[in-house]
This record gives sequence, structure tokens and C-alpha cells, in this order.
Amino acid sequence: MEMKDNMKKKLKLKVSAIKDGTVIDHIPAKNLFKVISILGLDKIENQITFGTNLDSAKLGAKAIIKVSDKFFEDNEINKIALIAPHAKLNIIKDYEVAEKKIVEIPERIKGIAKCFNPKCITNHEVITTCFKVIKTDPIALKCRYCEKITAEDQIKML
Ligand code: CTP
Ligand code: ZN
Repeated sequence: MEMKDNMKKKLKLKVSAIKDGTVIDHIPAKNLFKVISILGLDKIENQITFGTNLDSAKLGAKAIIKVSDKFFEDNEINKIALIAPHAKLNIIKDYEVAEKKIVEIPERIKGIAKCFNPKCITNHEVITTCFKVIKTDPIALKCRYCEKITAEDQIKML
């Protein structure tokens, strides 16, 4: 017999629904804890639930984070672009999905990534890295300090 749609949905729902807040879906499982740290979720008091190593056709293993009563600014959420470029945000209001957003790569990236140039001052002194995104897909980052270009496959996170 055909499974009813709402039954399928319930089987899919491995992490409980939330009443109000933000669901960040399609995070590569290996970057879950980096996303938590970049968004400062380890420092807030909101209720947070997450699931990881869930099956995903696109990502292999994905993670999902649900933060109750938190609505992120675009610039906050775009900080995760380098490590979760395909993340989708669902804004939940009164149990319903009120809005869906995608992550966009920002023009500037502060902190988060290391400069690829071993001689760069940011690799020797306590200076927050800062890059201009000069190209996306693949990403290329130009260092504000040494002006060298870090290519996507050379990006290492801090
Ligand atoms: N969700 C939730 N709490 C709610 C409503 C939705 O946690 N009250 C979660 C769902 O579990 C899902 C995400 O928000 O992970 C998006 O919900 P929905 O659009 O209903 O799911 P899908 O159709 O599977 O969305 P998509 O295919 O766009 O990921
Ligand atoms: Zn540099």
C-alpha cells in the first residue's frame, strides 16, 4: 500500500520539529562542529538540537541544526559559506516554514580561513585574517595583508 505523505514526513523527521527559530539543513557532516563554532552556537542559551550523519543524496552524510527562537542576520549566516556552501535555512514560525534562504558567499571573509602564504604576517602574529573574495566557483581569496591569492583547494580553516 502507498505510504501517506505525512507518514513519509514523520519518518524523515529524525530531529524533532521546533515551534519558532531557524533550521540549518544540508551541512556536510564533517563540518557540523565548525558551523556551531562559527555561528557562536556554543555560547548562546537558546535551545539547540542537531542531528548528524543523516543520509543525504547530495552530500553523502549531512548534518542539521535547529536553533529555537533565533533568527540570524544574513551576514552572520553567510560566514558559514566556505564550509557549508549548500546549506539551506528554514525560518520557522509557529511550527510552519515561513521562509527558506540559501547561504551566499560574502564579499569579505574575516577570520575563519588561513592565508595560504607561509610568509604572510597573519601566519606569524596574532592578526585576524581578512580576505576579499575575488572569485566564486571555484572560490579565490585575496589576502588583505600579503595580497596573495588562496585558491579554493588551498583553503584551510582556522
Ligand atoms: N522543520 C522543523 N520544525 C518545523 C518545521 C520544519 O524542524 N516546525 C524542519 C524540517 O524537519 C526540515 C526543514 O525544517 O528539516 C524544512 O522543512 P520542510 O520545508 O517542511 O521540509 P522539506 O520539504 O524536506 O524541505 P527541503 O527539501 O527544502 O529541505
Ligand atoms: Zn596573507
